[in-house]
Amino acid sequence: MRTAISPFDPVTIGPLTLRNRFIKSGANEAMCLAGRPTAALLKHHRDLASGGVGMTTVAYLAVAPEGRTLPNQIWMRPDILPDLQAVTAAVHDAGAAISAQITHGGSFVTGMKVKGRTISSSSGFNPAGMLKGNLLRRAMTEADMERVTAEFVTAARLARDAGFDAVELHMGHGYLLNQFISPLDNQRQDSYGGSAENRVRFPARVLAAVKQAVGDSTAVLAKINVADGTRRGAKVEDAIVTARALQAAGADMLVLSGGRNVESTWFMFGSRMNREEMARVLKQQGERLTALMMRAAASREPDISFREMYFLQYSQQIRAAVQLPLAYLGGVKSLANAQQALDDGFDCVVLARALLHDPALVNKFRSGEATESGCNNCNGCVAYIYHPAGTRCVLNPPNDPQLNRIPATPAP
Ligand SMILES: Cc1cc2nc3c(=O)[nH]c(=O)nc-3n(C[C@H](O)[C@H](O)[C@H](O)COP(=O)(O)O)c2cc1C
Ligand code: SF4
Repeated sequence: MRTAISPFDPVTIGPLTLRNRFIKSGANEAMCLAGRPTAALLKHHRDLASGGVGMTTVAYLAVAPEGRTLPNQIWMRPDILPDLQAVTAAVHDAGAAISAQITHGGSFVTGMKVKGRTISSSSGFNPAGMLKGNLLRRAMTEADMERVTAEFVTAARLARDAGFDAVELHMGHGYLLNQFISPLDNQRQDSYGGSAENRVRFPARVLAAVKQAVGDSTAVLAKINVADGTRRGAKVEDAIVTARALQAAGADMLVLSGGRNVESTWFMFGSRMNREEMARVLKQQGERLTALMMRAAASREPDISFREMYFLQYSQQIRAAVQLPLAYLGGVKSLANAQQALDDGFDCVVLARALLHDPALVNKFRSGEATESGCNNCNGCVAYIYHPAGTRCVLNPPNDPQLNRIPATPAP
């Protein structure tokens, strides 16, 4: 048994030491303009850093233009280094660290048409591509794997050069690397398909390459699913194999999440999607077809009620199976929840909605001003990833739309 650790204690993750163990989860900010970070993104992360988090995460940074899911999404390229540097500097000035969530959508491309077939672990019909005509996907070849590995490495180097303290490789929720791990996508017959060990082979290869490239100075994290939440999807037993392989590949910490964007969003959030808010925002943006599809998907969701710490049991099973640092995520809503995660052997806690609702929550926990989040799990914020002013909590005042129309480093 280790001695009691407080969530306010510092923690070391590979080459990085955080001032405390609260991490803002990567949650698509939609604060970008033609793939470039905006002043709104800078403000968002500066507020979180000033609000006390140990580390904040810039979400959804595509490693290549065809790795985007949405057309406006940031993709990593040298042109945007000054904007990224402005964001990381603002966070550092406020005393926090900052991580870059790097991702490739693979066949999960919902908002734009990709030329030719989208890439994935396997070929065939692509349900996520129906909206924009990406109806078919193709299985990646060895040459594709080499190219995508190189894209992750280049993106990680850019993140390091931009001042990020960590990179988080997205291996959950149905994006490309998850399309290898999950049997929902992976039907391969070669050494990258079949057993859980084979399915994690390519993601682990990407992680090892990133670690070798930037691991001396930058912490290398991976966000994985504890389970996909569907009958035919990955189970916790698969996640244990995944975690062991990523540990062997050199991961500094795993962020434990769950669920898939298409099949089981309710599992990811521990509560149903907010159909009304989604329809309202999408219709405002002229995305009526998307609104209809989302409504249809939401009508198939099970009628679940939200539980705090909804991934705890699965995450504990992974905790028991590996030695590397693990970050607990999923329904952390109070200081007591955070303490429980640490008492259970997790090294950090990762929060999305509680910190979207109140970026100063960590300081309030510390001072005693608050012991619980005011977030009511309505998932209204999820709709705002489609809003031109960026993601926000519906209980808070609207974002300033002007800030999302100017780059993070406006021309002098
Ligand atoms: C508005 C919104 C956007 C999100 N976008 C992302 C994303 O870009 N990448 C990601 O890994 N998870 C994303 N998520 C999921 C969160 O990171 C997190 O896994 C989930 O909300 C559960 O954590 P929580 O209970 O602390 O909110 C998003 C969540 C919200 C609310
Ligand atoms: S909109 Fe606000 S209250 Fe609702 S889930 Fe999101 S952060 Fe919580």
